[in-house]
Amino acid sequence: MSAKKLTGNEIRQKFLDFYAQREHAILPSASLVPEDPTVLLTIAGMLPFKPIFLGQQPRKYPRATTSQKCIRTNDIENVGRTARHHTFFEMLGNFSFGDYFKPEAIAFAWELSTKTFGLPPDRLVVSVFREDDEAFAIWRDQIGIPAHRIQRMGEEDNFWASGPTGPCGPCSEIYYDFHPELGDENIDLEDDSRFIEFYNLVFMQYNRDAQGNLTPLENRNIDTGMGLERMAQILQKVPNNYETDLIFPIIKTAADIAGIDYGKSDDKTKVSLKVIGDHVRAVANLIADGVTASNVGRGYILRRLIRRVVRHGRLIGISGEFTSKV
Ligand code: ALA
Repeated sequence: MSAKKLTGNEIRQKFLDFYAQREHAILPSASLVPEDPTVLLTIAGMLPFKPIFLGQQPRKYPRATTSQKCIRTNDIENVGRTARHHTFFEMLGNFSFGDYFKPEAIAFAWELSTKTFGLPPDRLVVSVFREDDEAFAIWRDQIGIPAHRIQRMGEEDNFWASGPTGPCGPCSEIYYDFHPELGDENIDLEDDSRFIEFYNLVFMQYNRDAQGNLTPLENRNIDTGMGLERMAQILQKVPNNYETDLIFPIIKTAADIAGIDYGKSDDKTKVSLKVIGDHVRAVANLIADGVTASNVGRGYILRRLIRRVVRHGRLIGISGEFTSKV
């Protein structure tokens, strides 16, 4: 089966429906302003569930699925310059609170990727944490992935935590190969012109304290994240996340206001249009969640994003107010 061309909205819905059919409660996205005091903004789908993972709150459901609004600003300078860096993005996730664990999480992710979204299995490569022989064996023996397409990776890549302390665990990622013609002997998952990581399965089983000690959590949990914009890039067969239907209409509006054609623009102009397309989504969603521009904390992040939108508008020749139109 070949991959289907789906809209961003259809991809989100198919993800949620797939997990609802497997007894997951569909929950709404939490606010970008987190209850968790350790972060300024919601940076991952798991954040609203941190107290459940830590055993500080009882679970209401054994399984849940969400499309969570997220903002990360650590890579803000890469936005528009690479194919897939964002400030605002949606993270699709399925979560198990002491219910299913590795074998089921891996089987669900594979079925969703290859059946529901129709990605050809020979275009997929997976990674596991270096020491996670169990995940390696599940991919090889239960799913049938050839061993050379299961890459063992170190702590920086395949051990996930939401911050220096808190719930964490080894993870396993699924990558899509844009250039299978380069051959299996040359698989290098760091090569982002060839591979895109689109689904991260975290086996949340430890709590890390301030000294870095890992203590097993009471339950073994599952936390996952699929980048909606990344899946849209793959399924819509466009060269980057910005040209998906989730972001391109904003770029088109900005280009129209500037009186330019995105397709005929030079790289510098395209970067400015992509920055506008990315940041405007972050700005609109921050304001919708009650953040106001200021010179501290979240308010400063919002102010900085608005200033960058305006600046890139000026760089492509827009004078006057245009932010409300985009
Ligand atoms: N929490 C994991 C991530 O953000 C799924 O990648």
